[in-house]
Amino acid sequence: MKLWSGRFDKNTDALTDTLNSSIAFDSRMYREDILGSIAHARMLGSTGIIDIEESDKIIAGLNEILSDIEAGVIDFSVECEDIHMNIETLLTERIGEPGKRLHTARSRNDQVALDIRLYLKKEIGAIQSMLAALMAVLCRQARANIGTVMPAYTHLQRAQPTTFAHYMMAYANMLRRDCTRLEDCLARMDECPLGSGALTTTTYPIDRWQTAGDLGFSRITENSLDAVSDRDFIIELLGCLSILMMHLSRFSEEIILWSSWEFKFIELDDKHSTGSSIMPQKKNPDIAELTRGKTGRVYGSLVALLTVMKALPLAYNKDMQEDKEALFDALDTVKTCLPVFTAMLDEMKLLPENMRRAAAAGFINATDCADYLVKKGLPFRDAYTVVGKLVNYCLKSGNTLETLTPKEYSAGSPLFSDDIYDAINLEKCIDARSCEGGPSRLSVTRQITSIEGFIKSYLPDFQKGGQDPG
Ligand code: ARG
Repeated sequence: MKLWSGRFDKNTDALTDTLNSSIAFDSRMYREDILGSIAHARMLGSTGIIDIEESDKIIAGLNEILSDIEAGVIDFSVECEDIHMNIETLLTERIGEPGKRLHTARSRNDQVALDIRLYLKKEIGAIQSMLAALMAVLCRQARANIGTVMPAYTHLQRAQPTTFAHYMMAYANMLRRDCTRLEDCLARMDECPLGSGALTTTTYPIDRWQTAGDLGFSRITENSLDAVSDRDFIIELLGCLSILMMHLSRFSEEIILWSSWEFKFIELDDKHSTGSSIMPQKKNPDIAELTRGKTGRVYGSLVALLTVMKALPLAYNKDMQEDKEALFDALDTVKTCLPVFTAMLDEMKLLPENMRRAAAAGFINATDCADYLVKKGLPFRDAYTVVGKLVNYCLKSGNTLETLTPKEYSAGSPLFSDDIYDAINLEKCIDARSCEGGPSRLSVTRQITSIEGFIKSYLPDFQKGGQDPG
């Protein structure tokens, strides 16, 4: 029998239950639901709304239910609709009368708004730790490859020389922002909606600050209509997760390119690759492809929730029960991708000779060649034109800037002398970019140290991998 059956003459039919029931997916919030109920029961007791003895019995009963759920001995029922009514029904079956007093001064509407917040606090922390673990791998790879020369691209055309370390730290910076974005999102959702009731609070003398404090919230929601119908904290989180997946997807794309025969900058470990059912030679970067693909799935959750909430009048509407599947799917997806992506990057093998070869072949030191003339007094625009013509000449004569003779250089500009070969040496071009943010050893080491310091606040046991820059 439904908890709310009094007003009705007939039971719901089975088809209605199938659509209406959310227990199949909201049961994962059992712990948060029980912790919320315990805090509520304690407050009802301490404010005298119910007897202390009854409050104690409720708390003991809820704790028992919690251990039984964790022991796997509880079967939830579709009849009882959702996790809130399943637990309340179990409680009353077990402790009788006092169980029926638990829902005093409360509604499922403030209850569900609370449960999701509590659940997300834990999930966000877990994702931040996973991000920190990924950043730690990037720092390790960067420290090991501070001098590994590779081309950097614009328009996917070789542009200027950089190092693998500089490249890794670019992604580390994106991931750090993802982590702090989650922190901001967490800070905004850190308010307790309990006491909002169905929509306009309650006439009982409840103590909202007591339950908020008990449950670890730093403040309470200020408006009850908003508190029970706000889901923008979920949408904001899905926004954060979408941006995070977008970063992983860009990174995946590079991993896929780099492991192709056309690039061959890296070789993925067999553990993170798959074969083809027909082509015996294939080794495919499926982990990166799936991460790229699952990005679409997380975006889908964001768009689903924005669409569900669009045009909903205040306050609670059952449409909002649709928040959970999209949210949980996005969380599960991110939490499945991050650790395997991290392991893939940790165990990939680099092929530095191939990176160096690619860096040597695309005139990526042409900017440095022009800068050389600028240092000899030519305005940059003129220097740019001289070097453009030299590149054109190289392309037609099958040369690179390294293979041109001093005579050919002089034909381009009388300002060239023998020190040009030193000026266009790739390693020197990189180390000359020593300003903040650049690829020089010193600059990249500073970037690594900065990210390593950040990682420590999420992974207290993290040991950084090397020396600080002087
Ligand atoms: N299972 C519901 C949800 O997730 C709980 C709130 C139900 N409230 C109601 N008035 N029907 O949204």
